[in-house]
Amino acid sequence: MIFVTGGAGFIGSNFVLDWLANGGEPVVNLDKLTYAGNLNNLLSLRQDTRHIFIKGDIGDTTLVTKLLATHGPRAILHFAAESHVDRSIHGPGEFIKTNVNGTFSLLEAARAYYAELSETERAGFRFLHVSTDEVYGSLGPADAPFTEQTAYAPNNPYSASKAASDHLVRAYHHTYGLPTLTTNCSNNYGPYHFPEKLIPLVITNALAGKALPIYGDGKNVRDWLYVGDHCAAIRRVLQDGRPGETYNIGGWNEKTNLDVVHTLCDILDKLAPGKAGSYRDQITFVTDRPGHDRRYAIDAGKIERELGWKPAETFETGIQKTVQWYLDHQDWVCDVQSGEYLKWVEKNYAQREGRGE
Ligand code: NAD
Ligand code: TYD
Repeated sequence: MIFVTGGAGFIGSNFVLDWLANGGEPVVNLDKLTYAGNLNNLLSLRQDTRHIFIKGDIGDTTLVTKLLATHGPRAILHFAAESHVDRSIHGPGEFIKTNVNGTFSLLEAARAYYAELSETERAGFRFLHVSTDEVYGSLGPADAPFTEQTAYAPNNPYSASKAASDHLVRAYHHTYGLPTLTTNCSNNYGPYHFPEKLIPLVITNALAGKALPIYGDGKNVRDWLYVGDHCAAIRRVLQDGRPGETYNIGGWNEKTNLDVVHTLCDILDKLAPGKAGSYRDQITFVTDRPGHDRRYAIDAGKIERELGWKPAETFETGIQKTVQWYLDHQDWVCDVQSGEYLKWVEKNYAQREGRGE
């Protein structure tokens, strides 16, 4: 049995689906079902007794303690978080509550649970904390990619809250001997990605004939990784990662936002041509995000050397699959574009002035 938090979100649901498809043991999945959590992501597991879903908050110590005692997991995989930088700028409070205080509560429950395990159970137990490359801050154009030794320098409330949670996880290893593993991954993309993030937003806006908003000059660089590769990396780290260590995970795929959006438009022009012209005509440059990190790049050498993991997808294969997934799952898209989603779009984009490409 493994215990997953945030398993109804984008990466968590991909992880649970891949884990069970790969013959993994049963999963207890604790998720609060915020706007980002969606049980439709897990519909294929409806009849699967290996998946036990619990709606609840990682900050609810009584609930978490009870779940750990009842199910006796051999590992906790912690995905649950508030994850969108723009939302953290509009309202940082929830990010501190879930990412910092929530992770703290979960660590406390894990510490108490671990203390009661037998020696053999302790030897196998792991607490795997899923984190981000954004904790390292922003790179200049000629800087070397982030390694596990790069100093933390978060620049927005989201990355600061994730950095804080990483520090807590580190401290629980050093102080209490909790066998922790931390992964710091670059930007993911793929199925079930909520359309507030760049790639799914551009695909869904393009098909709806709406503007494709590019912040600033569109030259910010992100390192993109297909979500299935991230899930495979987490499985490797869980299996053979050394307790107390951190592992950077990335796709070796640095792209400017403009390059990503152009690629998406070109694929859509082929797979779902619009009535006239190219989807590129919908590109609109809008006011930049405050404190917008210029460049992220990950050196994923350690996980490759020590655990033999490297990405299976190139950006070209992964992005093609992703666009096709969105075309094939328009019902999923319609469903998530609820009242709450529309309110967010209004809040985030109404005040950004637009100008065409
Ligand atoms: P997401 O926003 O899609 O999903 C987060 C999930 O956590 C949702 O299902 C939500 O309901 C749940 N959740 C939120 N608060 C909760 C709480 N208090 N208690 C229980 N559940 C709660 O996020 P994601 O993109 O799937 O990211 C998952 C993890 O991976 C996060 O920790 C994020 O920091 C990290 N990460 C994400 C990326 C990325 O590109 N998306 C890259 C690197 C790391
Ligand atoms: P996002 O998907 O929000 O991920 P993150 O901020 O965690 O990297 O954004 C990816 C990049 O795309 C980032 O540089 C901000 C930019 N962006 C836009 O240009 N327009 C948008 O509408 C959004 C949501 C993001």
